[in-house]
Amino acid sequence: MRNLRLTLSFLRRIVNQGPILNTRTSLPNPDILRSISNITKSDKEIPAWIDASDPNTLSDLTDSFIVYNDFISEEEETSLMNELEPYMRRLRYERDHWDDAIHGYRETERRQWNAENNSILKRVSDIAFPPPTPKLAYVHILDLEKSGVIKPHIDAVRFCGNTIAGLSLLSTAVMRLTHDDDESKRADILLSRRSLYIMRDNSRYLYKHAVLGANESVFNGQKIERDRRVSVIMRNEPDKNISER
Ligand code: OGA
Ligand code: MN
Repeated sequence: MRNLRLTLSFLRRIVNQGPILNTRTSLPNPDILRSISNITKSDKEIPAWIDASDPNTLSDLTDSFIVYNDFISEEEETSLMNELEPYMRRLRYERDHWDDAIHGYRETERRQWNAENNSILKRVSDIAFPPPTPKLAYVHILDLEKSGVIKPHIDAVRFCGNTIAGLSLLSTAVMRLTHDDDESKRADILLSRRSLYIMRDNSRYLYKHAVLGANESVFNGQKIERDRRVSVIMRNEPDKNISER
């Protein structure tokens, strides 16, 4: 249990600088390039889920971040919560450590799922981690209470590869991406309840991500009601050719 907690909290580092890519071996494999170009081609118009500071940031992010609204049905959301809730209920929300990247949360990792939930997660992994991308066997469950926030951070490259895919359960939330070297480059992303987001490459390595608290949750000028939010997050294996700078 202790190791698990440590691993999960090391995953998020609050940084001023992102990782450097080892240029010798950093060319993405062709599957990744293909899936990125699919994202770009199918989204010629500005997607409704992003509000970016400027056109360059918009194009940077829409090349490497996508949101699928209504990726799961209400029944599927209930099925995932039915399996998770008995376990989550036994954990207490962590509130004391304001220096941490996250506040008002409890979290765990899960490897085994019932058949229905397995097939939901397979849909996520088919779209986010097409073979041969090796995904992590453990799925990360992060339960943010209504007042919980995730502060700006970049997931540690030691524990996570180029792709992060997350289902949002129970509540809509606003994710804010801020360029690690230039705070003026930023975007708010509307993560609707039951949507799936996929963050990879530039949006994963060059931008910090945060989930805004209830009071800051505004999207395109419109207040977003934030409630308890449970995210089910899949990641791939760390890339051995990338190191922290
Ligand atoms: C994290 C994180 C985002 C989410 O756990 O590192 O950024 O959607 N989570 O919960
Ligand atoms: Mn993160």
